[in-house]
Amino acid sequence: MILTGAGQIGMAIARRMGYGMKIIVGDKKQENAQTVAKTMNDAGFDVVPVEMDLSDRASIRRMIAEAQKYGAITMLVNAAGVSPSQAPIEAILKVDLYGTAVLLEEMGRVIAPGGVGVTISSQSGHRMKQLTPEEDEQLACTPAEELLALPLLQPENIRDTLHAYQLAKRCNEKRVMAESVKWGAKGARINSISPGIIVTPLAIDEFNGPRGEFYKNMFAKCPAGRPGTADEVANAAELLMSHKGDFITGADFLIDGGATASYFYGP
Ligand SMILES: NC(=O)c1ccc[n+]([C@@H]2O[C@H](COP(=O)([O-])OP(=O)(O)OC[C@H]3O[C@@H](n4cnc5c(N)ncnc54)[C@H](O)[C@@H]3O)[C@@H](O)[C@H]2O)c1
Repeated sequence: MILTGAGQIGMAIARRMGYGMKIIVGDKKQENAQTVAKTMNDAGFDVVPVEMDLSDRASIRRMIAEAQKYGAITMLVNAAGVSPSQAPIEAILKVDLYGTAVLLEEMGRVIAPGGVGVTISSQSGHRMKQLTPEEDEQLACTPAEELLALPLLQPENIRDTLHAYQLAKRCNEKRVMAESVKWGAKGARINSISPGIIVTPLAIDEFNGPRGEFYKNMFAKCPAGRPGTADEVANAAELLMSHKGDFITGADFLIDGGATASYFYGP
């Protein structure tokens, strides 16, 4: 298994699906990868930490080569990313949008027959207004190296870091649809999960950031009335990555306690 992003969501999914496997965990912050590797190895898993930058194709390739030393790669969990309060617009686009596209492309080349992957998108992608069919297709199908030159991703068309994040997450969903066709030729599946507010260091940065009150209000007023946990995201990942999900590919699974429903149609 390749796990990118040694955060709470990634670790929860790896713990659910990665028993008995060699797990390569890549993170830009090597100390995060080492911490997750130690926590999981102390709990009976077999994890190797590596330093990896999702926004850098060469770095992704190095991680894949490291994983291939141990055999065929059968699972991908992509849970690396930066949030609107953690990074400027350019970094959000480079990591969350471009980096995810490159990872899905590179993994599509090496995933073993019958392999499965999930990438973590966000409810933010669901909240943004619909794009035109042409823009959707551009996000889905433009070669990864040309993505950041698309007109809708130019600075004059992006209001703020939240808008950049929404565009990145919408792109993740579209990319997964397009990639699932290629993965399917190998009998492999790829889906995305769009979590709502899940308590992790990334979400805590948001609670303490400029939109903190907005987010706290969002989960207080959503049907679930609370934020979610990484283990609840792992519940969805287990469905998508196990044989129970064999008929699910190219899909996006919104798991947000009803926050998106409430945003559009609630009080
Ligand atoms: N927590 C939430 O409420 C929430 C909601 C929706 C979506 N998400 C998404 O879930 C994913 C995982 O986030 P999390 O909440 O588990 O956060 P987290 O902070 O626990 O983990 C994210 C990890 O990604 C790593 N990372 C950041 N930039 C990187 C890069 N360029 N290359 C490699 N690693 C990098 C960080 O160092 C960190 O270890 C992100 O894509 C995030 O956008 C989170």
